[in-house]
Amino acid sequence: MRYFIFTDIHSSLEAFQALLRFAKRRKIDHYLFMGDVVGYGASPNEVIDLLQTLKPISMIRGNHDKAVCCELDSVQSFNPIAASAILWTRENLTPDNLDCVTQLKKGPEIVHEHITICHGAPFDEDYYIFGEFDAAEAFLHIETQVTFFGHTHFPFVYTDNDHIVEGTFLTGNSNEVKIEQGTRYLINPGSVGQPRDRNTRAACAIYDSDAQKISFFRVEYDIEGAQKKIQDAGLPPALAERLSIGI
Ligand SMILES: [Fe+2]
Repeated sequence: MRYFIFTDIHSSLEAFQALLRFAKRRKIDHYLFMGDVVGYGASPNEVIDLLQTLKPISMIRGNHDKAVCCELDSVQSFNPIAASAILWTRENLTPDNLDCVTQLKKGPEIVHEHITICHGAPFDEDYYIFGEFDAAEAFLHIETQVTFFGHTHFPFVYTDNDHIVEGTFLTGNSNEVKIEQGTRYLINPGSVGQPRDRNTRAACAIYDSDAQKISFFRVEYDIEGAQKKIQDAGLPPALAERLSIGI
């Protein structure tokens, strides 16, 4: 099976479309999405419509999805710029799409009995895994060999060999990780719509469970188009500006 792994689209239609054009040139059996379909960007309805056409075998909610549809009171816990985008998204979603976001399940979820997906961490969907200490805690809550997460927007691979946990930050525009027996993996492919690692390209991964390898990709997209929509929507200018530098 070949799984297309993606997370943190954040209402960027331009980034999402670019990745799907990339995916179309490859054989993909299933789509796995780790949350944050909305927030920050200006195309929430178009992105939700497109996501639904993929019929992901599994998709879960992120903290922005949860804030938009279920816990509007939690907006105070976001920084002012993120909070204003959440409120704007809430006002601009169609009723059907608000319902779709509301239906997104809370992670973690086990897929095909051998993959776990979660948004932040397997023990807390809102927790940021930002280092080996966090990853070691996460591995305690995981039963599968391979886990994918999102939330930090940084492409990262953590491995667990007999409780020795190591993290590798993935640089460049393509990487490959071979799945070794006896090693467990906790992997963030990076963000589709708002990369924060100073690489402006949209991020995704493909997990080939037969070949036992995970390939990571960064794909160029129409950043100026996404920025113009953010400006035209009256969203905070910083949300457009950050896309040019990948933060
Ligand atoms: Fe996110």
